Amino acid sequence: MTDNRVLRQFLELMSASGISHLPTVTLPKRAAAPAKLLAARLKGTAPSAPQSPSRKSGSQIPLMSPDRLAPNSAERPEILESTHLLLEQTFRTEEQKTEGLSKLAEAVSVCKRCAELADTRRQTVFGVGNPDAEIMFIGEAPGADEDRQGEPFVGAAGKLMDKIIAACGLKREEIYICNILRCRPPGNRNPHPQEAANCREFLDGQIKIIAPKHIVAWGTVAAQNLLGETRPVGRLRGQFLQHGDARVMCTYHPSYLLRNESAKKLVWEDMKLFMKELGTDLG
Ligand code: URA
Repeated sequence: MTDNRVLRQFLELMSASGISHLPTVTLPKRAAAPAKLLAARLKGTAPSAPQSPSRKSGSQIPLMSPDRLAPNSAERPEILESTHLLLEQTFRTEEQKTEGLSKLAEAVSVCKRCAELADTRRQTVFGVGNPDAEIMFIGEAPGADEDRQGEPFVGAAGKLMDKIIAACGLKREEIYICNILRCRPPGNRNPHPQEAANCREFLDGQIKIIAPKHIVAWGTVAAQNLLGETRPVGRLRGQFLQHGDARVMCTYHPSYLLRNESAKKLVWEDMKLFMKELGTDLG
């Protein structure tokens, strides 16, 4: 056992025994273990590993993560070894993407990083849709209906989203839909920053595997967490922002629209702009 490890274990033991005033000890830096290095890359504090070329863009697929973190953002846990190994792979064909997503979903289904959510959920809600989609929708977190059915946006907000999708001339099957969180927060409270940080590995994995060209972030929670922004959605909407290779449109959450009818016209403006980018003029 190395001296560093002994010292670390000693400090952990003291801490576990309730001794809180521990000295600050700077341990000499070691070469980062692969998982640590990947976590650092996800945080944007280490250079990206060389990636294989993307079929869609012809460019490299970066491990996408905002430069800045959302307000009160929490520490991201060390990336799971299974995710690390999975994301070393390249995902070019629909088959590869489907397989990659199903492996990631398996890891999500047994995740207990957020004790409260793991205790109260009926099931995890990973994501649904076309694994090879060019468009990805990102919401906040599953609600009661999604928790029951295991699929994002199937409740009242989802029904409204379906109408927006149809009004845009799109089909749900063309889109991949997921959330910032994969578990329902009790009572539909807002996700805690630590919960978003705990789940980020899975969102980043889904984005890397699918490699969407266009993302819609629905609501402030999705927009801020995805982009590491502090501005509310009202300030972020109406323009394109960038996340990795994807162009991002932020707009109001369908649940907000259910309570604020007047915001519907703003979402429609955003969606027209979004669809224009995709080559469809909705007038
Ligand atoms: N609201 C969300 O943000 N996501 C869902 O999946 C359902 C409701």
